Amino acid sequence: TWTTAAFVEQAVREVRGKVGDKRVLLALSGGVDSSTLAFLMHKAIGDRLTCMFIDQGFMRKHEPERLLKLFQEQFHIPVEYVNARDRFLAAIAGVSDPEEKRRRIGHEFIRVFEEESRRLGPFDYLAQGTLYPDVIESADTNVDPKTGERVAVKIKSHHNVGGLPKDLRFKLVEPLRKLFKDEVRKVGRSIGLPEEIVQRHPFPGPGLAIRILGEVTAEKLDILRDADLIVRQEINRQGMYGHLWQAFAVLLPIRSVGVMGDQRTYAYPIVLRFVKSEDGMTADWARVPYDLLETISTRIVNEVPGVNRVVYDVTSKPPGTIEWE
Ligand code: XMP
Repeated sequence: TWTTAAFVEQAVREVRGKVGDKRVLLALSGGVDSSTLAFLMHKAIGDRLTCMFIDQGFMRKHEPERLLKLFQEQFHIPVEYVNARDRFLAAIAGVSDPEEKRRRIGHEFIRVFEEESRRLGPFDYLAQGTLYPDVIESADTNVDPKTGERVAVKIKSHHNVGGLPKDLRFKLVEPLRKLFKDEVRKVGRSIGLPEEIVQRHPFPGPGLAIRILGEVTAEKLDILRDADLIVRQEINRQGMYGHLWQAFAVLLPIRSVGVMGDQRTYAYPIVLRFVKSEDGMTADWARVPYDLLETISTRIVNEVPGVNRVVYDVTSKPPGTIEWE
């Protein structure tokens, strides 16, 4: 029978056998896959593992700090923190086309990844949190024809862009490759990952940058991060988090008129996007209690400067997508 303890033990043994005394690079993203992977790899090879965390500046409020704290203080796994916030913001300055925005973020990610892996390296292996469904999907696209070994031609970064240059085509070590998502969650829980990582809703690689429609600025990121935090707090307070596929806020690039006290306001609207789904391919807008919407709306308008209106998205997928960009 499959147990998490037996899996961890077996994976550690396999990793040691494969990697020997070589050095391994791992890009931490904050999700359950890469976090579980980091724990396993560190258990297997200790300081021959380098965990790198590239902060694009598009994560949710407190997420980067929490991740660093978890790894450094609870797991005692050192993390190379790369603060690339200004670079990413500069890379998409003035860009409002969604595809162009994604493309630029993806390219910037590869560039930072390259620079940092050269600075910290050299490395022989790249550890990736590839799961069983990903292995099936990418069948033999990145197998070295001579050795039959899987090689990194791309990084699994949720960006779906960009080849790595030849000298950075590390060999892959993928100890989660036989697991399904629910099994990774079990392993993650068993090693002490907090529920907020284990159960985290899907979060796009470009993060909040694609939830700010149109041009992204530091000011808008602050607004969205604050609104998003309120959404999460209230969803959690109502015990709804586990019942929804995703629940998040989107910031629109238009302003509307409102009134606060006896002052006229002219500010941005926030859209609430709450959906139910099995796999993200189709989705239903979630029929959540009006009281929940009321609380969220009141809090956002009162607590987040720059927002004076909250609207609820009642579009399913198809025809709507889950994200707005
Ligand atoms: P859409 O918006 O296409 O999203 O209905 C379907 C699911 O995919 C997530 N999503 C992404 N995930 N990188 C990711 O890793 C991305 O660029 C990306 N875009 C969308 C989305 O959050 C939803 O769960």
